[in-house]
Order: sequence, then structure tokens, then C-alpha cells
Amino acid sequence: MVVQGTAFTSRTPKDVDILRNHLFCINEAGVIARIVSPEEQDYEAIVEAHRSSLRFKKVADGQYLLPGFVDLHVHAPQWAQSGTALDIPLYDWLNTYTFPLEAKFADLAFARTVYEDVVDTLLANGTTTVLYFATVHKEASLLLAEICAAKGQRGLVGKVVMDDPEQNPDYYRDADAESAIRDTEAFILAVKKLAETTKQGVYPVVTPRFIPSCTDEALKGLGELAAKHDTHIQSHCSESDWAHGYVRERCGKHDAFALHDFGLLTEKSVMAHSNFLSEDDAALFAETGTAIGHCPISNAYFANSVLPVARWLDKGVEIGLGTDLSGGFSPSLYDGARQAVISSRMLEDGVNGKLPTAERGLPESRLTISEAFYLATAGGGESLSLPIGRLEAGYAFDAQVVDSRLEAAKLPVYSSDESLEDVFQKLLYLVRPEHIREVWVQGELVHKRN
Ligand code: GUN
Ligand code: FE
Repeated sequence: MVVQGTAFTSRTPKDVDILRNHLFCINEAGVIARIVSPEEQDYEAIVEAHRSSLRFKKVADGQYLLPGFVDLHVHAPQWAQSGTALDIPLYDWLNTYTFPLEAKFADLAFARTVYEDVVDTLLANGTTTVLYFATVHKEASLLLAEICAAKGQRGLVGKVVMDDPEQNPDYYRDADAESAIRDTEAFILAVKKLAETTKQGVYPVVTPRFIPSCTDEALKGLGELAAKHDTHIQSHCSESDWAHGYVRERCGKHDAFALHDFGLLTEKSVMAHSNFLSEDDAALFAETGTAIGHCPISNAYFANSVLPVARWLDKGVEIGLGTDLSGGFSPSLYDGARQAVISSRMLEDGVNGKLPTAERGLPESRLTISEAFYLATAGGGESLSLPIGRLEAGYAFDAQVVDSRLEAAKLPVYSSDESLEDVFQKLLYLVRPEHIREVWVQGELVHKRN
């Protein structure tokens, strides 16, 4: 297939490439085989050869191509409570609202309703790859992977492990470490089999909820399973004062080093939040290739904290963005990117609890909207070690077509000779789901809005 249009894609965290009226040649596997600029000799010949075929698509004037977003942290069952219950601290929120909700996913009919909705909603928001926590239930977790497979989303799905009877309610936990590991291994094998039936791929993820919910035996067993089956790994790391403090008490070290001891920090690991990393923790992330799933909206509620993104990027840590549904209320990574910028400005200039006359903020923390876009796309792809998140040869054609001229919700793009740098910024700050006209995953159309 050949797509003709103007696209924006990150080259580096700071630099966005603007590809004006380029051709994207996509092969049978849904991978971008070649990108052709209008200056190239065979540009017109390629257009002529494809123009009248069904395998040619011209992006309309006023519409733009962006890479599909990569959401590094979603609790799929929590979609059912999104926008509510953000009034209490993390520990109470888990026990009051979240564990009772997640326990209901033993019911596969309920699970199907919520999981179909969350996958549809994320696709409609331009999100083409998602790293999901499901629940402790093996069958319902597999159902989420099946729904991703059927709807064409690239889902990386974890059956959640929480086996410690001291820390988890009896109505919602694994029976013990042994059954948690057995169920996780069966889940890994089932998702790998399912993946063979998909074009875009679905992936099993080893998912200890966080250290406080798991016994040492389970954590060690999960590290071994991930190595045995070469899977992705996800968990929560140093998220809140409470969680961070609990791990220091129990393990005598920070989450990062404790997770490392259990074999859980690898090139394919993504640790949500990671707000309270020390310099040594961040160096360990960089060395092991562990990525941070940065969740700026949720961090405002549960962590009262801002991740120093610029500092850790400088140190070589991979970082992508997460919505953290429902600790973050919005399913849109546009909202996530906007909050990443806003929070970074507060970190740089904020009073940090001191009077304005005292020393303010952390210098050089501010992120631009281009950097936030990088986190939502290329940074997410690098975090997952997958060829996604860029409109570049060799990458999957995962894309969203956004419309600046939608009659019902006009964006302030007035002149056709407006600089594309400005158009890009307006899109990033102002696009809502209604502007997202089409979403493509691995060369297939998976969402369309008329
Ligand atoms: N820590 C452990 N479980 C959770 C969860 O569901 N959401 C968030 N934000 N943090 C957690
Ligand atoms: Fe979370």
C-alpha cells in the first residue's frame, strides 16, 4: 500500500521531523518499506502506478499523519471506574475501590464488556500499542489479549500477580506463590499461541503488581519465568511515599535494586511511575535497559510528585508515557503529553513547598511539547524494544490521521502556508478524539470516524 500525506515523527527526544507530502510505501507485513520525498526521481511514477488502485490513500488537505501512540501503563479493568474515586491516597484507594472492582473480573461477561470498551476507547484516542495490567484471573486476562487481537490493537497483557495473604484481601489474590507462577506460565503459553494468529502481535507480560503485594518466592519465580520465556516484565516502582517506604523497610533497599535482585530488570522491563529513584537507581535502569512508564496525571494524585524526566533522559534511561487508567483519569495520551509538559514546568519553577523567596524548583526540568510527543511515540517503542512509534522505514505502519478542519470542532489553523512547526504544536495541544479520523495498526485500518 502507498499512503501520500504530510507527517510528523520524532527523530530524537528534542527533534521532530516534518515530512511534507511524502509517500509511505507499506509492505504486506504492514511495515514501512520506504519513505519517498517529493524531490526523489521516482516520486511521480510511484503515485501514477498506485493512484487508481485500492492500495493508494491520499491524506486530505488539512489532515496530518502522526505515529500511533504507545501507552506504557493501563489497568484495563479500572476503565470501569475512570474519572471517579481519586479522593483518597493510593493504599486506601486500592483497598476501598480498586480491589473490589478488579475482583469482579472473575465474571467473564463483565470482563468482556469493560475490556471491549477500553480497547475501543484507546484506539479512538490514537493509541495503537498498550502495555496492560489485567487482573489476577487467568481466563479474563487471556480474554483481554483475545479482544486486542480481534480489534487489531497491539496489546501487551499481564495477568497480575498478588499472592501475599498479609497484604491482599482474601477475596482478591492468588492462592499462593506456586499457583501464581503456574497460572502465569499457562497464561504466557496461551498468549504466545494467540499471537501466531495476529498480524500486529500480542504479547504476554510477567506482572507482579508491586513488591508490597507479592512474596519473595513469587517475585523470584516470576523473574525466572520471564527469563525462561523471554517475556516483557512490568510492575510499579517507587510510586508513592507509602509504597517506596514499605519496600525500604521490608527489603532494606529501594525498589529498583530489590526488583533487580529478583531478575525483574531487563531490556524488556517497564516500571510504572518510578518517581523516587535515586541517582544509583536511575543508573541501574540505564544499565539494564529498564524503562520508565511515566504517568504524569496519576502522579499528581497518588504520588504528589513530578518525575524528573529531562534528568533521567540525560542519564540514558528509556522513558515513555502512560495514562495509568484509572489512577490517571484520561484515556488520551494527548492529555498525558500535555500534563507531562505542565508538570515539568512546575518542577522547574515550582516553590516545592517553600516560600517563593526560598530556592525554587529543579533547574532545566522543562519539557517541550516535542519531547512529550517523543515520550508518547518513539520513547514508548524503545521502552518496549519493538520497531514501533516512528514513521520510518523498518517500523510498523501504526498511525493516526488527525483533521485540523473538522467542521464541528475547528482547530485554529487558518492559512495553508502556516508553518508546519506551528501546526504540529496546535495539534498536540488541541486534538480531541473527534479529530482523529483514522487509526492504523500494522498497515490495517482499525478505527474510523466519519
Ligand atoms: N500500585 C499498586 N497497584 C496500583 C494501581 O492499580 N494503580 C496505581 N497507580 N498504583 C498501584
Ligand atoms: Fe498503575
